[in-house]
Amino acid sequence: TGPVEFHGPHQAGIVTPAQDRLHFATFDVTATKRDDVIALLKEWTAAAALMTAGRDIGQYGAVNGPGEAPPEDTGEAVGLPPARLTITIGFGPSFFVDASGNDRFGIKAKRPAALVDLPHFIGDNLDANRSGGDIAVQACSDDPQVAVHAIRNLARIGFGRAAVRYSQLGFGRTSSTSRAQSTPRNLFGFKDGTNNLKLEDTDKLEQQLWVQPEDGPDWMVGGSYLVSRRIRMTIEIWDRTSLGEQEKIIGRGKGTGAPLGKADEFDTIDFGAKNSDGSFKVAAHSHVRLAHPQFNKGAELLRRGYNFVDGSDGLGRLDAGLFFLAYQRDPRKQFIPIQQQLSRSDTMNEYIRHVGSGVFACPGGVTPGSYWGEKLF
Ligand code: HEM
Repeated sequence: TGPVEFHGPHQAGIVTPAQDRLHFATFDVTATKRDDVIALLKEWTAAAALMTAGRDIGQYGAVNGPGEAPPEDTGEAVGLPPARLTITIGFGPSFFVDASGNDRFGIKAKRPAALVDLPHFIGDNLDANRSGGDIAVQACSDDPQVAVHAIRNLARIGFGRAAVRYSQLGFGRTSSTSRAQSTPRNLFGFKDGTNNLKLEDTDKLEQQLWVQPEDGPDWMVGGSYLVSRRIRMTIEIWDRTSLGEQEKIIGRGKGTGAPLGKADEFDTIDFGAKNSDGSFKVAAHSHVRLAHPQFNKGAELLRRGYNFVDGSDGLGRLDAGLFFLAYQRDPRKQFIPIQQQLSRSDTMNEYIRHVGSGVFACPGGVTPGSYWGEKLF
């Protein structure tokens, strides 16, 4: 329930052991002046430092200000512990250049080469209203009200300068980012996060997660790239699929989470093992095989997604799925080729649809006295 340190060499909320709840939002910057954007980022940073410490924002907070003015803090987190709140920021391609290619805030030249527009993937059915955004903010906490409070207050501060483009609540984590955590389950009922990058893998995090000095640009060193995908799951169809077929699609047992042919969750996957009929125990088009680093030139991801159910779709089906969040050192070498391979032949595709998408450059950590994105300006 305690606070997570806001300042540090990397932004909190990436390797931080995945919290239980998510409120994610992207913003369209409506300000047109560079100085207004800088002022907004300064105010957001100050508010984030206070909220993650479990404090009200502003000088007077929620209830101690003058009766004539709206409170500086909206108040719904008063009395709640910080519940490990982290607030993580990222900048999308459209923050650097507008649709006509114009340099919006004098930072076009600082757009990282790795911050590419994601290509179209087979089966994509993206809703523009749930995709993109100039700035992404990921708020994670063990208390949903604390996560919602964080996004709400940033939106309130942004009034007239940045507008919420879309937001997504996640009610349950679908990953673990530390070996001290148990592996949770996604809405297919499978353990998710077994073969994830974990905060204890410090060497691998340098190779796969954090932008290194030789990668550039300077302002991204110690940062990471976030890909977000709203993935709808057709769970009603999944629920009519046999247990054996479900396990074949994933490549792991549903109970233990062990690779097929093995006994324990963390056993190494044996991709060569065969059944008596000559087929692979971990099927050739199973999800874990196609996503595994061995078949992706060693590329890995730090997955940090959440389950969502946003009511129903009016056709008798739950609007349910996985809000996929993955951090990496370079999406051109990690998310993009992995997703290209999955989109071509993952047998799971029959049960999922990608309906929202985003890619964001998340700068390195904030030091006391600096603000989010300071090195960009
Ligand atoms: C592994 C589910 C989408 C990349 C897994 C596992 C499950 C799973 C159950 C096995 C447990 C584990 O090692 O974490 C899902 C579901 C998805 C989805 C239900 C969509 C609704 C994606 C996407 C990507 C991805 C879009 C990347 C483009 C991976 C990777 C692994 C993995 C890299 C680890 C493979 C390994 O090294 O063994 N996923 N996944 N997944 N998934 Fe997904």
